[in-house]
Amino acid sequence: MKKMVVLSGAGMSAESGINTFRDAGGLWEKYPVEQVATPEGYRLDPELVIRFYNERRAQLLTVKPNHGHELLAEMEKYFNVTVVTQNVDNLHEKAGSTHVIHLHGELTKVCSSYNPNDLRYVKELKQDEYEVKMGDLAGDGSQLRPFIVWFGEAVPEMERAISYAEKADIFVIIGTSMNVYPAAGLLDYVPRSAEIYLIDPKEVQVNSSRRINVIQKGGSEGMEELLSRLT
Ligand code: APR
Repeated sequence: MKKMVVLSGAGMSAESGINTFRDAGGLWEKYPVEQVATPEGYRLDPELVIRFYNERRAQLLTVKPNHGHELLAEMEKYFNVTVVTQNVDNLHEKAGSTHVIHLHGELTKVCSSYNPNDLRYVKELKQDEYEVKMGDLAGDGSQLRPFIVWFGEAVPEMERAISYAEKADIFVIIGTSMNVYPAAGLLDYVPRSAEIYLIDPKEVQVNSSRRINVIQKGGSEGMEELLSRLT
């Protein structure tokens, strides 16, 4: 089977009702990034940050995968698929994708405030634990923090993502503005021989000289077109 690697972003979950970050009305318009998505913001006001992610988790309980997620899961019938997502939701998994790498962490997990990447203290929350409180502690005695990669933090899953990108026969970019690195740089590792597709309803500026097949559509319609072009 050919190897397909998919880089997904917030637009993938837009049709499920989760706001993107940089579109009009996006999350970063409502909440200052520096406050809720940086280690400095967390140091200054951990309670606010914990509440922000509690709200994101509560929203997770109210949303479902959309047709785009489902079609991507269906791609596993035809290709050896690795989904590399920037999304912290669990909608790819819920739709049935079996191999998902989360570059920016996962809402359903919490970790140590001392060292977020100490896997001994990373914990998957059950649904009734989604509301984390100040004073809830990780195994090392630190405050439980969201298992989210904030701006300025290392992206430990990037290496694994690169090792798959380097072997891709087909590389698909979907629902990301390609603004955030290192994620957007994954394209640089894709072999010259690979076919590259980009699905997004808007025009996306991609910093690359590679030939890209653009499908200018939303996630569901775009995945439908991709499936019909490839199978
Ligand atoms: N279907 C597909 N794409 C869509 C849809 C849709 N229905 N609606 C919007 N989009 C596209 C937008 O046109 C845009 O190109 O999704 C993209 C969303 O871009 P961003 O909001 O910048 O999200 P993303 O690229 O995932 O952000 C990357 O930035 O803030 C951080 O950590 C956060 O993982 C996030 C990272």
